[in-house]
Amino acid sequence: MLPRTPLYRWLAVVAIITVVFLYHPDFSGSSISAYTSGAGSKFARPELDTGRWVKEVLGNASIGPEISYAARTLQYIPDAKERPLTTEVDHELFPEKFQDVTLDAAAMLPVGRTIGVHVKPLSRPGDVDASSLIFGASTTLERFNDDNLGPLKEFTRWLTDGKGNSNGAGLIVALVNCTDAELDAAHHRLADVGINATVIAANPSLDMPGRYVDLVRMMYTHPTASQRKFFTLIDDDTFFPYMSELIRELFTYDYNKPYYIGTFTERVDWIIQNQVPMAYGGGGVFLTAPVAKAIVEANCIEKRENGKYVLDASQGDRLLYNCIHTKTAVTFTYNARLNQMDQFGDPSGFYESGHQPLSVHHFKSWHSSPVAKIHQVADACGEDCVLQRFRFKDDFVVSNGYSVAQYPKGIDFDLSQTEYTFDPGNNDIASVAYAYRFGEMRASLSKTGRKKQWRMLDAVTERDGRVKQVYVMRASDDRWVAEGEARMGRDAVVVLTWVP
Ligand SMILES: *[C@@H]1O[C@H](CO)[C@@H](O)[C@H](O)[C@H]1NC(C)=O
Ligand SMILES: *[C@@H]1O[C@H](CO)[C@@H](O)[C@H](O)[C@H]1NC(C)=O
Ligand SMILES: *[C@@H]1O[C@H](CO)[C@@H](O)[C@H](O)[C@H]1NC(C)=O
Repeated sequence: MLPRTPLYRWLAVVAIITVVFLYHPDFSGSSISAYTSGAGSKFARPELDTGRWVKEVLGNASIGPEISYAARTLQYIPDAKERPLTTEVDHELFPEKFQDVTLDAAAMLPVGRTIGVHVKPLSRPGDVDASSLIFGASTTLERFNDDNLGPLKEFTRWLTDGKGNSNGAGLIVALVNCTDAELDAAHHRLADVGINATVIAANPSLDMPGRYVDLVRMMYTHPTASQRKFFTLIDDDTFFPYMSELIRELFTYDYNKPYYIGTFTERVDWIIQNQVPMAYGGGGVFLTAPVAKAIVEANCIEKRENGKYVLDASQGDRLLYNCIHTKTAVTFTYNARLNQMDQFGDPSGFYESGHQPLSVHHFKSWHSSPVAKIHQVADACGEDCVLQRFRFKDDFVVSNGYSVAQYPKGIDFDLSQTEYTFDPGNNDIASVAYAYRFGEMRASLSKTGRKKQWRMLDAVTERDGRVKQVYVMRASDDRWVAEGEARMGRDAVVVLTWVP
């Protein structure tokens, strides 16, 4: 028999069940608004700290305080068989539209109702086994230690599980012009984030091209060399967003055979100028052991009396090519999924293309793009969903980690084409040159009023499997209004939360 219970307790139970029902993840995208965040209720989502984080991120970037705000919680469902160029979602991204909010200590920032999206089975940084790879980079101590230019944040994303453990990849960092104490300090900075790197002094008698080629010797003679299948030369600003996919791709080549794998520059005019089928270094150059061995034995960094290399070259990747070309019968294997990224200007066309670039480069120089933060969402929906494109019914397209774009006049163009956002500079053949790499591109929508773009500002892993991203569009950014059209009155902010 049930114990006798006062009526108000039953009412409380009914109220609680109702609240649970209303807050339960909603896949229809069409029921009660969750914008009433229920402060004080024990069923309120534990958003207090991350709400503060969002406000701090916005404050640090001088956004607001008057903002236009929208948010959505995306529940990833890891059952997709593939990762198409565009994943169609049968719902609106923002059925509630944007709200005006004044950012102050008291402002509630709702997380938005939950909607389900389909992604491939999860492969997170912690699932990567990269022990078959060793990487070599040469840089200066100043660059290495620089908070912005240095590679530490990015290395942490693709060389560890993000929780302080190595993914098994080897790393050699050759530093120019520094003391033993400085080498040791650099080693410790890497070890602190979970990267077991070998940090060594670059040979002071070598210049940049020589130091680059000398990395092959360092990798090939490393104590772990016998377990490595691919000896990889990188720049200190080369980033690998999809380690699992990269390894899968590399293992399509027979690593017992001689292979020299990489990518060209996107600038076909430069290929023609250089006149050689060489791997451009920034996209990553992958050598199998037989090629690495041949390079080491060939001693390609030998110089003449006049101080020039016998195999004359002013760039490391060119000296490497000259070495392989002169001393071996191996020719270059082009892999179109690697990227040198020699295009200038707004990189949006590239990052919003829906592709899965196996390497990216120049993101701190020729263009600017926070690749470590872009990659953060791999902690939630897995690596494959980084830069995955989701198209919603209200003509919003999320390029996951990079941007949220709205096409207020609809999407009547071919989304499978790359938008030509790049800057051709003064070079009128640049657009022709890019065409070989990107195929036919569609016209830029900047200043047409047909595209609004929120770029990602920051991302944080809130807890296992849960990542929050903040995207912003500044009122002062006139790319998103047509000529003559008034600017927006407020900075606009989008918050996306990825949950299991
Ligand atoms: C905001 O900036 C301060 C000062 O630079 C920094 O300590 C803090 O971590 C930043 N907050 C966030 C959330 O990035
Ligand atoms: C090496 O470092 C010293 C001091 O740190 C500096 O004075 C010198 O110019 C550097 N040399 C080169 C070749 O970078
Ligand atoms: C780091 O790598 C070296 C080989 O380069 C190995 O001998 C050592 O055990 C590794 N240390 C850790 C903590 O994994």
